[in-house]
Amino acid sequence: MKTLHRLTIFSGFLFAGLIGCKDQGKTAPTAPVVIANSLSVGLDTVFTFPQDTVVLTIQGGTPPYSVAPPPTSSAQCSITDSTLTIIGSSIGSNIARITDASSPAHSVDLPIIVGTAVSFANSIQPIFVSRYGCSGTIGGCHGGTMGLFLDNATVSYQNLVNVPAQSAGFIGYKRVAPRNLSNSLLYKRLSSNDPAISMPQGRTAPLDTTYLNNVRTWILQGARFN
Ligand code: HEM
Repeated sequence: MKTLHRLTIFSGFLFAGLIGCKDQGKTAPTAPVVIANSLSVGLDTVFTFPQDTVVLTIQGGTPPYSVAPPPTSSAQCSITDSTLTIIGSSIGSNIARITDASSPAHSVDLPIIVGTAVSFANSIQPIFVSRYGCSGTIGGCHGGTMGLFLDNATVSYQNLVNVPAQSAGFIGYKRVAPRNLSNSLLYKRLSSNDPAISMPQGRTAPLDTTYLNNVRTWILQGARFN
C-alpha cells in the first residue's frame, strides 16, 4: 500500500470509475488506496455479496474512528473500536470513508464492490471435476499429489482454503488465501499459461475466462464454503 495524503477530490473520480463494476465475474478496477499516517484496513478494495459480512481491523491513525458510507450505499458499515464491519446490502459499488480523530483528521477511502456471490459448490468445484477431470476418482492426477484431493466440494475446500502450498518455489503461499489473489497458488496456477506453473499440468492455452473469473471473484469475496 502506498502512503498518500487525503484525496477528497480524487474520490469523486474514483467513485465514478467504480459504478460500472456491478457484474460479478468481471475484472474490477484496482482502486488506489488513500492512506494518511498509516491509517489502513489492510485491503485496497472489499469484494462481497448481499447478506455477507466482512470484518476488518483498522490500523494506524488516532482512534476513535468513524465511517461514512454514501446515503445510497449498497453496503452497511459500522465501527466498534478498531473493528470495521461491512454487510453487503444490494448489488452495487460504493466507497466508505474511514476517518480518525486526529486534527486535521486523516481518512482512508475503501471501495466496496457488492456482486453476486460465486458459489464454491456450483461454480468452482465443477472446474476440478467436470471440466478438467482432475478429481482423484475421475482423473487421478490429484488423487494424492501433495494430498490435494479434489473429489467433491467438501474435500476440495478442506484441501485448498488456508492450506500451505507444498510446491517447490511456492513455499509461503497458501493454496487459497481468502481475499489475497497474489498469495493464492491455485489462482497462480490457473491464471498462468506457463507449462512449468500452469494447471492442469502442462497447459499452455488460457483457461476458460468464465472459470478463471469465477475463481478470482470467489477468492476476492473471501473464499467462502457456499
Ligand atoms: C483444474 C485442474 C487442476 C487444479 C485446480 C490443480 C491445482 C494444483 C495446485 C493448487 C497445486 C499446488 C499444490 C501445492 O503446492 O500444495 C498443484 C500441484 C500439482 N499438480 Fe495440479 N491441478 C490440476 C490438474 C492437474 C493435473 C491434470 C495434473 C496431472 C496430470 C496435475 C499434477 C500436479 C502436480 C504434479 C503438482 C505438483 C507440482 C509441483 O511439484 O510444483 N494437476 N495442482
